Amino acid sequence: MTLLCSECATPAPDDALFCAACGGLLMFELQRDRIDAGALRALLRARRGSNEHRDRSGVWRYRELLPALDPERIVTLRENDVPLYPARTGAAYAGAQTVSYLHLGMNPTGSFKDAGMTVALTHAAQTGARVAVCASTGNTAASMAAYAARAGVHAVVLVPSTGISESKVAQTLDYGATVLGIDGDFDAALATVRSLDPRRVAIVNSVNPYRIEGQKTTAFVLLEQRAWRVPDWLVLPGGNLGNTSAFGKGFREAFALGLIDRLPRIAVIQAAGAAPFARLFAAGGEMIPVKAQTTATAIKIGAPASWKKALREVRAAAGTVIAVDDGAIADARAVIGRDGIGCEPASAASLAGLKALVEAGTIARDDDVVLVLTGHVLKDTAYAAAYHAAPAPFANRIVHTRDQAELLARIDDLATARAGA
Ligand code: F0G
Repeated sequence: MTLLCSECATPAPDDALFCAACGGLLMFELQRDRIDAGALRALLRARRGSNEHRDRSGVWRYRELLPALDPERIVTLRENDVPLYPARTGAAYAGAQTVSYLHLGMNPTGSFKDAGMTVALTHAAQTGARVAVCASTGNTAASMAAYAARAGVHAVVLVPSTGISESKVAQTLDYGATVLGIDGDFDAALATVRSLDPRRVAIVNSVNPYRIEGQKTTAFVLLEQRAWRVPDWLVLPGGNLGNTSAFGKGFREAFALGLIDRLPRIAVIQAAGAAPFARLFAAGGEMIPVKAQTTATAIKIGAPASWKKALREVRAAAGTVIAVDDGAIADARAVIGRDGIGCEPASAASLAGLKALVEAGTIARDDDVVLVLTGHVLKDTAYAAAYHAAPAPFANRIVHTRDQAELLARIDDLATARAGA
C-alpha cells in the first residue's frame, strides 16, 4: 500500500496527514496485482473457523487489504463483526420491499468509529505516539478513548461543551480520556485539532488515512454476508463524510479485485440544518460551510473535512445526496426501534432518506437496499425519552400503575386481547 495525496497524487511519507505539495487529504492506494481474489475468498472462509482475535475482527481479517502494520501488536476489541438484519417495519414505512439494516452500532463502543480506530490506534502505538487527539460530536471520542486505553496511549478529546449526547461523554470519561469541552461546535474543535503538529500527537479524526482504511472494511463485511451479492443502494448518514469516503473506497477496491461485478449506488443523507454537502451536490461548485443546527447531534457538522473525497465516491457510485428534516429523522428512529433494532438519531437519517428517495422515485420500490445504522440506541437515551414524552406518531408512553391489583388487571387485559387477536 502506498500513501498518496487524494487530490494531486503526490506520494507522502507514512506518518504525514496532509499533502506537503497541495495540503490535500491523503489516501492509501492498494496494489491490486499482488492480490488474487480467489485465494483471498478462500482465506476469508478459513478465518471464520479461527479463534484468533485478528481473524474474528471484521477489520483485521481483511489485513491483506490494509496498510502493513506489525500483526503481533494489533490493538483490537473484535470490532466490525456487525450484523445485517432484515428491516420489516422500516421497509413498510419507506414503501420499499427489500431493505436491511447494517448495524454498526453493534460495535464494542457502540458506533462505526471502532472499525477505523483499531487501525488508527494500532498505527499510532506502533509509531511510538504517547498522546492521541480528536475533535468529536461524541462517538469518535468514545471510540478513540477505548482504543487508546487498550494501546496505552493517552486520549485527549475536544468536544462541544453543550449540545452533544451525555451518554457519549460519560462513556469517554469512563475510558480515562482527558475531555476538553470547548465553547464552540464540532467544526471549531476540528479546526483546532488540524492546527496541531502531527509529529507531537497522533491526530485520529477521519482526515487520518488509517481511519479510512479501517472503515472501508465495513464494505467487505457487508458484501461477505451477502455472499458478495451487491445491493442496488447503500444509504448512510453523512456528517464529516469520512464514512462515505470509506464505503466508496471499499466498494471500488472490491470491484477492482474482482470480488464483485458492479458498484452499489450510494445515497448520503444529511440533516437539513447541517447539509452543506447536499447543497453542493445539487448546485455544484465548492463547499460553502454552514453554521450547523440539528437535533441529530452526531452529524451537526457545517464544514465536512472529507467532502472532496466523498464527492468523488458518490459520483463514481452514481449516487445521490439529500437532506431530511429533524422531524423525519425522529420518526424514522422510532420506527427502527419497532423493528426490535433501534439506533441513535443520526443513524435514522438513512431510513428517513430512503423514504424520501422512494417517494421521489430515485430508489425503486423493489430495489435491494442496505441502510447503514451508525450508532447504538443507547448512545442517546435522553433523545429517545424526549420523543416518547412528546406528541409524536410513534411515541410510546410509560403506563404508571398505582397498585398491585391494577397492575395485574392490566397484564390480564392485554393477555386476553392478544389471545383473541
Ligand atoms: N452517524 C453517527 C452516529 C456519527 O457519530 C457520525 C459522525 C456520523 C453518522 C457521520 O459520519 O462524519 O463519517 O460522515 N460522528 C463524528 C464524531 C463526527 O465525532 O463522532 P461521517
